[in-house]
Amino acid sequence: QDAAKGEALFKQCQTCHRADKNMVGPALAGVVGRKAGTAPGFSYSPLNHAAGEAGLVWSQENVVEYLADPNAFLKKFLTDKGQADKATGSTKMTFKLANEQQRKDVAAYLATLK
Ligand code: HEM
Repeated sequence: QDAAKGEALFKQCQTCHRADKNMVGPALAGVVGRKAGTAPGFSYSPLNHAAGEAGLVWSQENVVEYLADPNAFLKKFLTDKGQADKATGSTKMTFKLANEQQRKDVAAYLATLK
């Protein structure tokens, strides 16, 4: 993975995200290593919030999976934790990144945002 390439790819994320402030999406500085659904002051969907409560902590690896299909990722996480009852509704993140190399690069860049 290449964080420099990821920085260029992050432009697509900036439609909704900034590192240091909430916009349409939550602030992403420090997201790698952070419990899901916990950017201060951001109003998350019940689905994203529930995944964090069920133990989801963002890592470079799981962000790579998440970006392929955020809804599917969060629902699978909850279902695997025995919380299929909470795997309902949709995430507010409607964006997907199909290209796996691009997902790896952007996740590597996120890990540099402290
Ligand atoms: C949530 C990353 C593009 C809107 C998230 C989260 C991550 C993330 C890691 C979970 C945050 C948390 O649990 O604290 C990215 C990356 C993107 C991207 C790396 C680009 C590759 C976008 C775009 C939009 C968007 C383009 C808007 C069209 C949102 C929203 C949430 C979110 C609204 C909150 C989801 C919820 O509450 O269900 N994003 N995102 N994101 N993102 Fe993105």
